[in-house]
Order: sequence, then structure tokens, then C-alpha cells
Amino acid sequence: MKLSVIGAGYVGLTTAAGFAQIGHEVFCSESDPDKLAKLQNGGMPLFEPHLENVIKSVRRAGRLRFGSTEDAIAWGDAIFICVGTPPLANGDADLSAIEGVARAIAKRAPGYRLVVEKSTVPVQTGAQLLKHLSVHGTNRLKYDVASNPEFLREGTSVEDFLHPDRIVIGADSPRAADLLREIYEPILKQKFTCPIHSICPKRNDPIFLATDTNSAELIKHASNSFLAMKISFINMVANLCEVVGADVTKVAQGMGLDPRIGSSFLNPGIGFGGFCFPKDVQAFIRIAEKSGCDFSLLKEVEKINQRRVEHFVEKIRTELWVMRGKKLAVWGLAFKPNTDDVRFAPSLALVKALLDEGAIVSAYDPEAMEKAKTVLPEVNYCAEPYAAAQGAEAVLLVTEWDEFRQIDWDRLSTVVERQLIVDCRNMLDASEAASHGFHYFSVGRPPVLPVQTEPIPIGASSLARTESAVENYRRR
Ligand code: UGA
Repeated sequence: MKLSVIGAGYVGLTTAAGFAQIGHEVFCSESDPDKLAKLQNGGMPLFEPHLENVIKSVRRAGRLRFGSTEDAIAWGDAIFICVGTPPLANGDADLSAIEGVARAIAKRAPGYRLVVEKSTVPVQTGAQLLKHLSVHGTNRLKYDVASNPEFLREGTSVEDFLHPDRIVIGADSPRAADLLREIYEPILKQKFTCPIHSICPKRNDPIFLATDTNSAELIKHASNSFLAMKISFINMVANLCEVVGADVTKVAQGMGLDPRIGSSFLNPGIGFGGFCFPKDVQAFIRIAEKSGCDFSLLKEVEKINQRRVEHFVEKIRTELWVMRGKKLAVWGLAFKPNTDDVRFAPSLALVKALLDEGAIVSAYDPEAMEKAKTVLPEVNYCAEPYAAAQGAEAVLLVTEWDEFRQIDWDRLSTVVERQLIVDCRNMLDASEAASHGFHYFSVGRPPVLPVQTEPIPIGASSLARTESAVENYRRR
């Protein structure tokens, strides 16, 4: 089928490439002229695993092209709107880009169009879209509007697109629902050439859930807000663990074994970031407020998240005493691993707070430094993690990139000024850090001091060693 995708951000590019991969003929438009030129010349405006290869291969096969919004509107029987919906100052989603696309479709579509919202939008946006299309339509065409929320995670978006758990569509007309089912057929039956796996892992076929438009729109906001709530919940449990001397990893494990709770999204850390959760929680609060529903539960979720960075700054301040003039190394800037995205990344707020206190910050991230430079020009960016750690009073581990798991502890020991690690993601092995002479602070777990700080009886269990280290810490 001929499909159009408007907007070449993470969602739009993955959607366009994914549809082309499963056999559709896709036209993807982008309004930023530099980005469009880059894509047309075979470049990539963002880093996302597998995406570049898929785009190259479907372009070679002639199933994906890039161009203007006008040409995209003329091309596809179905038009997927994947433009940004950034937050306004009051927390509402800014829908001006969606409105602009609707106006262009109304003016230029040469025949029936199924208009599909993929961007995350407030409930009832579909109804507004349909109204807008008929008000501005000059061509007396019939339109259908449907919602098709995306559940793509940055870093695994190609895999999420091709092997989803569910495909949700919200459509108020059978024609729209049938078209969407047909478009997704190869994914529903898992019948396509997979660009990621030579043999795809065994899993259940995706579930196709068809609802009305309003419900589908709500499913997206409710899902993201629920996941954000899980993260804030475990972060509060982590705070409690730090005070009472419990281990949040064990608590999360014990909770997650209950299938009603589940273990995913119970990893405590420096808070959720990225362009989805922070803005979607805010927007959902506003939607509820405007509908007269008190969703103060979500306000707490947001508040807990906003306090995460300060919690870590406090830990660092307590340990370093004076921050002014001290060199700190930040490992990881992206809001999560396997992406170069720093939008609403906790690293940005953390680095700003450290700079405000007079610290000198060096940073390393495998992919996100170019994007971080535009918002944090004061930072000294380094080509590898040990250069960032040179002379540092503390190494702050902010994003859980795999390469940080392979630390060369001996090398790190020789370059730092002080052997102190603050692991904001609980990704390192505490006993390994301690055995290499590091003071190790993490989230919701007792701090661990270098094992040689005080003699511990030979043959003591690891628990005894940890308890002993905690005791040493308390006595200081
Ligand atoms: C999220 C959702 O997971 C996707 O389903 C959704 O499609 C997407 O938003 C969207 O609305 O477009 P994404 O923002 O890419 O995807 O990233 P996540 O993997 O959900 O992580 C979000 C944030 O939560 C990250 O900062 C991550 O570090 C943090 N997080 C995640 C935790 O702190 N703890 C966890 O246990 C999980």
C-alpha cells in the first residue's frame, strides 16, 4: 500500500522505515530543510540502533523516499502524523504542528485519506482533527481519522516496531479499522524479512486491539503515566531503603516476582527523562484537570521525579564537602543507553546543578555528546571515559551504557584524584568497586567502602563485609 509519514523524528523515521521494510511504499516528509537534505543525501539526523541500515536497504529497494509535506499528502492512501507535540509552559501538549498538517491535508489531498495520529496527543484530538479537516477542506473529500499510538522505546524502536506486544488502533469507522488492519497484517502475522534477527526469538504474535478513537488516545497517555508512576514508586522505596539500611534491588526483586506487579520498570535511579514520560505525565495531569478529574497521584509522580537530581547532588555534596573548584567526571549524558537523545535527560539538570556549585565538569558519552554540547557548552567533553575521569574527585555514572560495565578498574584508579563512584543507575558491582579501592555509592543500597578500610575477619561472608563497610561509614 502507498503510505505517507509526516515528520522524521524518532517515531516518524522508525515508522517510515518499518512500513517500508514490511513491504509498503512509503513517502516520509520533514519540514526542517537541513534534516530533510541530510536524509535525502543518505545521512542520519539521529542515532538509533538498526535504523540506518534499514533505511539504506529500503531506499535501495525503492520503497522509501523523503520529501516535502505537500508531496507526502499527495502520495499515501493513509497519512501517519508523527510530528512533535512538545509541552507548553502550562504543561499542555502543543498541538500546533498537528493542526498545521491537518490544514495542509484539507487543502491539498487529492482523494480520500485515512489520517492517522501517531504522535502522542490528548484524548479527543481525533475528533478535533476530523472537524478541522471538514472545516478547512476545500475539496469536499471524505476523511477518516484514526488513532494508532506508538509504543516505541528509543534505543530499541526498530525491534519494537517489528515485534510489538500489541498494536492499538482507535477508529470510529469500519473502513479506517479495516485499512489499518491491512497495513499491519505482515506484523500481525510476523511475516516479513527481519532486518535484526537471522532467526527471530520465539514470542506470541502481536495482539491487535481495536477501540474507539478516544480510548486509543487514552491508552497511550495512561500507559506512559503508569510506567512513570512505577519508576517514581521504586525511587521512593529506594529513598526509604537508604534511610533504614535495606537493599532496594532485593525489594524490587521480591515485588516483581508477583506477576500482578511484574519486574520491569522497577529500576531505581536518577529519575525518568526523555521526550516522552516527563511531557506525557504533565499533559495527562492537564487533561484530567481540564476534564474536572483530580489526578493528584500523577502530580506526586512528577514531584518525586523532579527531586531525584537534587537527591544525588546532596549525596555528592555530603561526600565532597566543598564542590567549588573540584573536578567531577560524568559518565553518560543520554537519557537512557543506546540513544543520542538528551531531551529532558537527568544528566542535564545534574550537570547544571554541579556547575552552579562551582564544580568543573568533564563528561563522556558514546553517542550523545554532540547533542549535549548545544545545551551544556561549559562542559569539557572527552573522547573516552578515562580522559573524563582524569583528576576527578568523583566519577558519576549517569547513563547505563554497556561499555561502563567493562570498567578497567586499575586504569581508573590511576587517573582519578579520589576513588569515589556515584552510580546513579545501580549498574556496577559494589564489591568489585570496593575491592579495587573505591568508595561506592548507589541508589537505595548501603554505601560500600574500600574493603581494606578496616580489617575484616578472614572468611567473613559478603554480607558481613558489607555490614562492616556500612559500620565504618557510619562511624566516620
Ligand atoms: C517510552 C515508553 O517506554 C514507550 O513505550 C513509548 O512509546 C515512548 O516512551 C513514547 O511515548 O514515545 P522511552 O522514552 O524511549 O519510551 O524510554 P523508556 O525506556 O521508557 O525510559 C524512559 C525513562 O525512564 C528513561 O530515562 C529511563 O532511564 C527511565 N527508567 C526506565 C527508569 O528510571 N527506571 C526503569 O525501571 C525504567
